Amino acid sequence: MNSMTTRAQFDQHMVPNYAPFQQVPERGEGPYVYTEDGQQLIDMAGGIAVSALGHCYPPLVEALTTQAHKLWHVSNLMANKPATDLAAMLCESTFAERVFFCNSGAEANEAALKLARRYAYETRGAAKNRIVAFDNAFHGRTLFTVSVGGQPKYQEGFGPCPTGISHTPYNDVAALRASMDDDVCAIILEPFQGEGGMTPATPEFLAAARALADQYGALLIFDEVQSGVGRAGQLYAYQAVGVTPDILSSAKALGCGFPIGAMLTTAEIARVLTPGTHGTTSGGNPLACAVALAAVDTIRQPQFLQNVRDNTAWMHAELVAMGERTGAFRDVRNLGLWFGCELNPVLENRAGDIMNHGLQHGVMLLVAGANVVRLAPALNTDRDVLALGLSKMEAAITDTLGG
Ligand SMILES: Cc1ncc(COP(=O)(O)O)c(C=O)c1O
Repeated sequence: MNSMTTRAQFDQHMVPNYAPFQQVPERGEGPYVYTEDGQQLIDMAGGIAVSALGHCYPPLVEALTTQAHKLWHVSNLMANKPATDLAAMLCESTFAERVFFCNSGAEANEAALKLARRYAYETRGAAKNRIVAFDNAFHGRTLFTVSVGGQPKYQEGFGPCPTGISHTPYNDVAALRASMDDDVCAIILEPFQGEGGMTPATPEFLAAARALADQYGALLIFDEVQSGVGRAGQLYAYQAVGVTPDILSSAKALGCGFPIGAMLTTAEIARVLTPGTHGTTSGGNPLACAVALAAVDTIRQPQFLQNVRDNTAWMHAELVAMGERTGAFRDVRNLGLWFGCELNPVLENRAGDIMNHGLQHGVMLLVAGANVVRLAPALNTDRDVLALGLSKMEAAITDTLGG
């Protein structure tokens, strides 16, 4: 009997909201994924910017298995050491003084948005509740986060949606200024829009968001679910772009593949989330926090982050050269080891085809919309493996150009 998992089996019992590739991964090791049928793939997608230390990174396996023999779950009726230590480490390494743990990026943003409203409610009254967000933003798939996100397709058919949210164009300082008033409780933005097409925030835009939030007594929320935990060459991207938020959401690479989310903030703002105001059963789960503790402790080391920055400069030059050789790219944008290659008209909207050809050549790529190929490899991938992954990506581009 053939014991391999098939796409048909998947489709038979799964809700059809995902459409995965035919190949089914069986195991991973470092920068490689091996499929059930024996193909080796170089992972330049990192599980959508999650697997920041590659697959089955030994110190994380050790942290997980050690914790697995001790304690899995107690709920937030009791404190636990991994969560307490992780919160302390995050506070020591960032602007934050208080941390809330949850299980995903959407939940971290949900907590951030609820906290911003509650803080305004407690300090300025219920009328100060409007959230200013940006076109093309992505903040998750809960009803609140799709409403705050700037991609209406993700709200379609799920209404009525929460209200008290306005959207303005990203990087448009004048539009942001025009949107501000005393009823605004928060501005939420990604310091680099990932899902929305790999678009960096300009320094002027970030500075204006900070200044306008201060001027109107609103909180500045940075969604660092995708940009955080070393990706930008600093532990969090705000440290690379030089503007500090009041609230920061983190997830994805925080657990390097073990689900965990976190919301970071100051003691003054956090104080309004008194016992019973917000929560989630598995937030601060000891297994997740033990893994995240080992991950953050590895990634926050200066030498580790320096290596990310060194590889960033090298990889940017490689991608620009690839674009010149193939004529495929109109632009190469990045924040650290997180790249978006916008396609020229000759390959217009064919990012998905490049991703498909990439798999045939043994490399896992990502897209960000139809016209951008996105890369988010593990931050500790050796340069020769990155180079091999890039050569496979170029072969995928050549195939796509040819057919
Ligand atoms: C910027 C950003 N925020 C939030 C999310 C949602 O995170 P999750 O899928 O863990 O809920 C994502 C996911 O891609 C993201 O990129």
